[in-house]
Amino acid sequence: MKTFENVLVDSNNGISTITIDRPSKLNALNKATIKELHHAFMEADEDPDIKVIIITGSGEKAFVAGADISEFADYSVSQGSELASQGQALLFDYVAHLSTPVIAAVNGFALGGGLELAMAAHFRIASDNAKMGLPEVSLGVIPGYGGTQRLPQLVGKGRAFEMIMTAGMISAENALDYGLVNYVTTQEELIPLAEKLAGKIMNNSPVAIAAAIVAINAGFEEGENGYDEEITQFGKCFGTADFQEGTQAFLQKRKANFPGK
Ligand code: COA
Repeated sequence: MKTFENVLVDSNNGISTITIDRPSKLNALNKATIKELHHAFMEADEDPDIKVIIITGSGEKAFVAGADISEFADYSVSQGSELASQGQALLFDYVAHLSTPVIAAVNGFALGGGLELAMAAHFRIASDNAKMGLPEVSLGVIPGYGGTQRLPQLVGKGRAFEMIMTAGMISAENALDYGLVNYVTTQEELIPLAEKLAGKIMNNSPVAIAAAIVAINAGFEEGENGYDEEITQFGKCFGTADFQEGTQAFLQKRKANFPGK
């Protein structure tokens, strides 16, 4: 396994926990960290023993306080476009389309690119000290890592407009109320809760979960028909060893032991 400068990876019992580790900069995402995260996610996704990925931030203060502002402060128009397109391809779109489920455990500030990374994960949980927002317009720019698309999908257009236009932060409780996170807990209980949810996911067929990710994502993609994709993915499941095992286990009144194929 590769070692990284700004990312820690801990793989245990089918779970890969990827921790962004730049606490002195509140885990801000510079380009180097985005590349490292890409590799860490790729390695976890390609490892057949890993069934769930948890993404979190180092320290008690921040998940990620945004893209690294010091890195892009003097960028031109073309450099700005490239920053967004490369970041989306390497990390944000990449994570959203992984076959392995990704849970974001938001342990503090999730601002700008930090909230965008949490939103690229398949779902989110938060500690009660977490604060979330897309403050980009306060810097004279807009969210560029998928935030203008994923925030309205998750919280609705009106709340997304308010959050983006005011550049404000919402509390973990508000985020729960908005449906932006699924659970709020204490900081100590955050990773244990993520692991408990991962445990429930791991009881199920990884192949069927990967098919569900493709079908759900299709409903949010330009030019794709989610219902058609659902039919395709549903049909494909019937040709898998996991389907044989899942249905046989049910009929034989035993717990399924999915081969993941
Ligand atoms: N990019 C680069 N550096 C960042 C950063 C970011 N997005 N967010 C925080 N940092 C750095 C700070 O510059 C500071 O570094 P320094 O100690 O070398 O000066 C360090 O992280 C600690 O941050 P600080 O601002 O001192 O902490 P705070 O508790 O006073 O405030 C925040 C916390 C999150 C409110 C504040 O850091 C902030 O507003 N960050 C920027 C958020 C943002 O606009 N993100 C969107 C970017 S597109």
